[in-house]
Amino acid sequence: MALRNILTSENETLKKVCRPVTSFDDRLATLLDDMKETLAAANGVGLAAPQVGILRRAVIVDLGDRMIELVNPKILETSGEQDGMEGCLSVPDHYGLVKRPNYVKLEAQDRHGDWFEYEGEELIARCFCHELEHLDGHLFTEKAYHMLTDEEMDQLMQNQEKDAE
Ligand code: NI
Repeated sequence: MALRNILTSENETLKKVCRPVTSFDDRLATLLDDMKETLAAANGVGLAAPQVGILRRAVIVDLGDRMIELVNPKILETSGEQDGMEGCLSVPDHYGLVKRPNYVKLEAQDRHGDWFEYEGEELIARCFCHELEHLDGHLFTEKAYHMLTDEEMDQLMQNQEKDAE
């Protein structure tokens, strides 16, 4: 396994539409393993293949107790709404407020090509939407109705410190 370099938002690769994964081979397994290691090292919640420069439809999401691999994922159903803060490993040090569905059900293939369904709420639902948009060349900054200013970020950090006391 190896750490891969995470591209940042000025890179044109992040604006491209990714192609479906068609070969469920060792190369895909290596990509997914590397993405997991890269996501863990970056302390993120999700990572999409284009963020490491690979224009294929593959995503890793950290569920907390384990990581899930989503190959060729498609959203089947959404419901509800959540409104909250979002960030992205490709947009370091910037956060914005984004409305997302509170529940998302999707289907995807695993590294062997077998289809499965998965559903998530709250942070996981938010992450599914965010990561799948990467596969179509979109960043959360396009969806954010407000990007936090430096002052708002400072305020937020202070409040978090207070909460922790
Ligand atoms: Ni992202």
